[in-house]
Amino acid sequence: MRSYRKEEIPVADSRKYLEPTPVVLVSSRYKSETNIMSMGWYTIMEFVPSLVGCMITGANHSYELIRKSKECVINIPTANMLETIVGIGNTTGGKLDKFRKFGLTPEAGKTVSAPIVRECYAHFECHLYDAQMLDTYNFFIFEIRRALVSVYPKYPKTVHYRGDGEFMIAGKNTSIPEKWRPQGK
Ligand SMILES: Cc1cc2nc3c(=O)[nH]c(=O)nc-3n(C[C@H](O)[C@H](O)[C@H](O)COP(=O)(O)O)c2cc1C
Repeated sequence: MRSYRKEEIPVADSRKYLEPTPVVLVSSRYKSETNIMSMGWYTIMEFVPSLVGCMITGANHSYELIRKSKECVINIPTANMLETIVGIGNTTGGKLDKFRKFGLTPEAGKTVSAPIVRECYAHFECHLYDAQMLDTYNFFIFEIRRALVSVYPKYPKTVHYRGDGEFMIAGKNTSIPEKWRPQGK
């Protein structure tokens, strides 16, 4: 797997990476235990503060690690990591060290104790912002406090989950600046 040269960006720009909702790897740590899970169910909620809402079922081992530590890292893997994404989503932590099993490298974050997954091309360090929907929907609302992304390529190919084991690989980027009117201005 390749490694990326990365730079920090304003956290408000995190949405440019997350809005097309690629499947992400959520890494967590509570006390001495680290873990990783795959996640497709999340949404951007606000630009400033940079908020993202994530549905993580209570049956996942990651749920308790994240609930207790109140933090995690959202990492974006690339399309060539599809088998790793599925493998991580098909196994549960606790007794298994998924970093070791899937040949991934835990790297220290700056604002969280949870490790970032080095082989991914973008990392968003998340702090629990609102737990009001946790009991009813297993829905965490996180604030991203640090965003670290690949310098080049800016947007490598990503994997998007369609359900039932089917995935879409992201295509090329396009833009139409002459038609672009954010917030109707
Ligand atoms: C592509 C993909 C997307 C997934 N999306 C989610 C999700 O959004 N929320 C969730 O709770 N589980 C999701 N899962 C399932 C977890 O990744 C899976 O239950 C995993 O084993 C949890 O690991 P853990 O028990 O070590 O935390 C997804 C799995 C895959 C393969």
